[in-house]
Amino acid sequence: MNVENFRQMYVAELQELRNVEAQLVKGLQLMAERADHAELKKGFQEHQQETQSQLERLDGMLQAHNAQPGEHVDQSMQGLIRESEKWAGMVPDPDLRDAGLIASAQRIEHYEIAAYGSLATWAKQLGFSNDQATLHAILDEEKRTDEKLTDLAKRIVNPDAAHA
Ligand SMILES: [Fe+2]
Repeated sequence: MNVENFRQMYVAELQELRNVEAQLVKGLQLMAERADHAELKKGFQEHQQETQSQLERLDGMLQAHNAQPGEHVDQSMQGLIRESEKWAGMVPDPDLRDAGLIASAQRIEHYEIAAYGSLATWAKQLGFSNDQATLHAILDEEKRTDEKLTDLAKRIVNPDAAHA
């Protein structure tokens, strides 16, 4: 299907993000299983629940635009998750692996922050004020997650990794 106007492009991007979150529900599950530090494991589990709720909010927005979730697979997110798995599989030391997991998770969060930032701006331009509010709320969740990961890395995980 060709994208002919801004609204179509916006809806296509909503579908893309819906797929990103669906992949991440599974990806964060794996990361939580891999994580060794209790606080990191808990952080991944909490963000997984948040991600599930983001997925549901995106479904609500798609429904309001009479659009289906779509079958498109976001290959960028697929690649980011695949790399994080590959990387984690190569690092036997749990402290080092946790530092690597945080770095992978932050790449993922930054990808989401970029995507939600653009989409929220598009929603504003198109006059979809409900969507704009929801997209901003999700954007804030992603930013908070990124900050929590930075804090955890600096405070606990990186110092431990330095002693591995
Ligand atoms: Fe997300």
